[in-house]
Amino acid sequence: MERADKVWQNSALVATYLEGVRGGIPLAQEQIDVMLRLIAAAGGERALSFLDLGCGDGVLGNAVLDRFPSAHGVLADFSEPMLEAARQRMAQHTGRAQYVHADYGLPDWVDAVRPFAPFDAVVSGYSIHHQPDQRKREVYGEIYGLLASGGIFVNVEHVSSPTDWLGAMQDELFVDNLHAIHPGQTRAEVASVYYNRSDKAANILAPVELQCQWLREIGFTDVDCYLKIFEEAVFGGRK
Ligand SMILES: C[S@@+](CC[C@H](N)C(=O)[O-])C[C@H]1O[C@@H](n2cnc3c(N)ncnc32)[C@H](O)[C@@H]1O
Repeated sequence: MERADKVWQNSALVATYLEGVRGGIPLAQEQIDVMLRLIAAAGGERALSFLDLGCGDGVLGNAVLDRFPSAHGVLADFSEPMLEAARQRMAQHTGRAQYVHADYGLPDWVDAVRPFAPFDAVVSGYSIHHQPDQRKREVYGEIYGLLASGGIFVNVEHVSSPTDWLGAMQDELFVDNLHAIHPGQTRAEVASVYYNRSDKAANILAPVELQCQWLREIGFTDVDCYLKIFEEAVFGGRK
């Protein structure tokens, strides 16, 4: 299996994801809108401290900084090419973002961000699904420990399909979306790249219901799947 720690150190794969895949995620803007609405309701209008875990180029963190002028955040990732992309994307927010190189596959990642805690919000996008289920659950517990009381965790995440038939629906929708943003390619060409992409093997998907259950067991309240279309889910809870 291609491991996430190998996949995301690869500059070419990073460029493919950022330029060719991120924009094709179904309901991507709606996911961000829901995330921002939840953060606002949890108190984001005041000076807000947040963590974007597995930030990539900072698409989520950037949206938080755009929406909340008093916010400041920590963007954490274990991929140097991604952190560099984040620095470039966030250039207009100089002074409001810190970049932290950390691998949350290991519990000591918490030490790298603890100096900035507690956080009013922790967001994560399409990242934690690279961990085995037991570690996912531990990471959620570690996030809980980093949140301020009343703080919110929002995971914009790739989750598993209950059946293969529904999994095929997800794949076809994603290919349609990718085809729409790559009009110069045939749908068959887009589908071939999609089905053979190298980061696919690094995905370890889990049902959203199970992950919400873990959050409740950890102690989160107001846990729910706030938005979902096939395998794309926005879920989380408040401390
Ligand atoms: C699919 S990208 C998503 C990036 C961004 N959050 C988004 O929503 O587009 C997954 C990101 O998670 C990061 N990542 C994966 N496993 C990680 C780990 N164990 N520790 C830190 N970052 C990790 C990768 O480097 C990559 O930037």
